[in-house]
Amino acid sequence: MKQVFIRVILLEIIKSGIEGLDAMLYGGFPKEDQVMIAGGPGAGKTLIAFEYIYRNAKQGNKGIFFALEEDPKKIVQNAQSAFSNLKDIGDLVDKGMIMIEGKDLLTTALNKYDEAEFGFGRMVSEMESSISESGATRVVIDSSSAFELVIKDPVLYRRSMWSLAANLRRLGVTTVFTSETRNPDRKKLVFNSEHFIFDGMILMYQSGEAEKRIHTLEIIKMRGHNHSFVTAPYEITPDGFKIFSPELMLR
Ligand SMILES: Nc1ncnc2c1ncn2[C@@H]1O[C@H](COP(=O)(O)OP(=O)(O)OP(=O)(O)O)[C@@H](O)[C@H]1O
Ligand SMILES: [Mg+2]
Repeated sequence: MKQVFIRVILLEIIKSGIEGLDAMLYGGFPKEDQVMIAGGPGAGKTLIAFEYIYRNAKQGNKGIFFALEEDPKKIVQNAQSAFSNLKDIGDLVDKGMIMIEGKDLLTTALNKYDEAEFGFGRMVSEMESSISESGATRVVIDSSSAFELVIKDPVLYRRSMWSLAANLRRLGVTTVFTSETRNPDRKKLVFNSEHFIFDGMILMYQSGEAEKRIHTLEIIKMRGHNHSFVTAPYEITPDGFKIFSPELMLR
C-alpha cells in the first residue's frame, strides 16, 4: 500500500503587542511575514508601526524602524508625545532595542530615471545589512509609498517590492510596511498592485466630518492565518493604541 507522508508545519505567530490588534489577528502576525498597514494622512500608521516595534522591544525582541519620510528623531519625539505614559521609549532606544534609521530618499529620488533602480537597490541592500548586523527580528518600513518617489515605473516598482519582500523573508524578520491610501474612506477604497505583494494587509479608515471623524481599522487579509473580519474603532491614547475589537470584549 502506498503511504503518503504529510509534513505538518505549524505557523509561528508573532504578537504585535497591541492587545486589541492581537485579538483581531487571533494571536498576531505569522512569523517572517510582511504586513502592510495602509491608511490616509494622520490615520496613525507611523504610530501603530512604532508601537509594534516598542511592544516587541519590551519583550526582548530587537526592532529596527526605517524612517523614509520623517527625521528619525521626530519619530521618537512624536511617539513619546502621543504615548506619554510609555515612559521607557527613550530607554529602549538608548539600549539599542529600538533602532531608528533614516534614509536619504530625496537624493535617491532626484537621480536620473535610469539610475533609480540602482539607487533603490543600493538603499535596499543598506537596509538589509543594517538588519543582519543589528540582529533585529522586527522591522518597520515607514513608508513603502516613499519608494514610489524613487521608482516611477509601475512594473519596475512592483518587481522591486517583490524582491524586497523576498529578501526580508530570507532574513527571517517580521515586517510591517506602512502605506498611504489615496482615499481614507472605506466606501471609496481602491486597491492597487502594491496591495497584492504583501502577506497581510490592515486598513485604517477615517469617516465622518471634522470633529466627529471616526477612526476604524480592518484586517483585509493575512495569508495562511484566520483573523477577525470586523471593522473596529480605535483611539490613540497615552497608553498606546486602544482597538475596540469585539474579540477583546468577549474575553
Ligand atoms: N499626543 C497625541 N495624542 C493623541 N493623538 C495624537 C497625539 N499625537 C498625534 N496624535 C494623532 O496621531 C496622528 C498622527 O499619527 P501618525 O504620524 O502615526 O499618522 P500617519 O498615518 O503616519 O500620518 P502620515 O500619513 O502623515 O504619515 C495625528 O494626526 C493625531 O491624530
Ligand atoms: Mg506617517
